[in-house]
Amino acid sequence: MTKSREVHLVARPNGLPAVTDFEIVDSQVADPTDGEVLVENLYMSVDPAMRPRLTNGYELHEPMSGTAIGRVVRSRTKDLAVGDLVMSRLGFREYFTARPDQLVKLDTPDGLPITVHMHALGGTGFTAYGGLLKIAQLQPDDKVFVSTAAGAVGSVAVQIAKIHGCWVVGSTGSAEKARWLAEEVGIDAVINYKEAPIRRGLRSVAPEGIDVYFDNVGGDHLDAALASMNTLGRVAVCGMISGYNEPGARTTVHNLANIIYGRITLRGFTAADFPEMRPAFLREMSQWLREGRVVYRETVLEGIESAPRALIGLFEGINVGKMLVRLAD
Ligand SMILES: NC(=O)c1ccc[n+]([C@@H]2O[C@H](COP(=O)([O-])OP(=O)(O)OC[C@H]3O[C@@H](n4cnc5c(N)ncnc54)[C@H](OP(=O)(O)O)[C@@H]3O)[C@@H](O)[C@H]2O)c1
Repeated sequence: MTKSREVHLVARPNGLPAVTDFEIVDSQVADPTDGEVLVENLYMSVDPAMRPRLTNGYELHEPMSGTAIGRVVRSRTKDLAVGDLVMSRLGFREYFTARPDQLVKLDTPDGLPITVHMHALGGTGFTAYGGLLKIAQLQPDDKVFVSTAAGAVGSVAVQIAKIHGCWVVGSTGSAEKARWLAEEVGIDAVINYKEAPIRRGLRSVAPEGIDVYFDNVGGDHLDAALASMNTLGRVAVCGMISGYNEPGARTTVHNLANIIYGRITLRGFTAADFPEMRPAFLREMSQWLREGRVVYRETVLEGIESAPRALIGLFEGINVGKMLVRLAD
């Protein structure tokens, strides 16, 4: 047996979650049986999509599922050796046993830290890549608006659009994030939506309008984008975080009629919609990261007990780049 701890949801939040909606529970993990490995989690990924599952999805008093990177510490299969690094979706816990078919063995491109698999070279990076290139049909010279531009998905979307020759404006909620976007990410314009209404901000920095909106927020940001879309504009709807604390993740949009006059395409998507793009994504993104053409930030909270704080923090905007929880070195 191995002593472990895991994160349980113990109460369904109404609005913004509270730390008291979660409990860190001691557990004992059985030794791996034939064909299994014992994994020690090193990093857990904290994602906005977990919030709707707190209302409808996660069971109460069960370990919450979530993406994690771990290290094999005992093996009873020839497919994985002690020391191998693996990605799982098996939850917010320190240790667990699994079969190799429940895990993805990781191989990190030279010189890159393993955590890139949790953001730029992982799910959030791939979401940005396919969302722009396939869903929004990005063209060189497009004027592109990305919301939550300093977040995990947003910051990669900004840089992919720049690499493709676009002019890019982003929205974010703090001066520190705006500075990072301008000075290191290489964005063309930033709007701090907490300082001025997003619609006014977008109009003033992009008076000629936008061709593509990569939506991570919904609500007032989607409204602002629809009011600024050029004819035949494309909206790739990736997320609507402004509504995730509302029942049913509701968000209110007023400017839908602009879709008619502007001949605008608005399409929602998930990263499961473009599996054929994964080899090209892995090849291009590894190269961009190695060359420093894509930069990233991580906000890392320490220890499993900080997982609830990390999840709540996404809705308070405390993260720059990808929100992670580190469990072990
Ligand atoms: N479709 C898919 O397959 C897919 C996959 C991954 C993620 N997503 C979506 O992509 C979006 C970004 O996810 P992420 O993992 O990259 O998270 P993230 O952007 O790294 O973190 C969330 C950020 O959202 C912003 N935010 C929070 N509440 C807000 C509000 N009411 N209005 C405006 N901004 C708000 C905060 O930044 P500010 O300081 O800028 O406010 C916060 O830092 C989410 O909507 C998520 O659900 C979709």
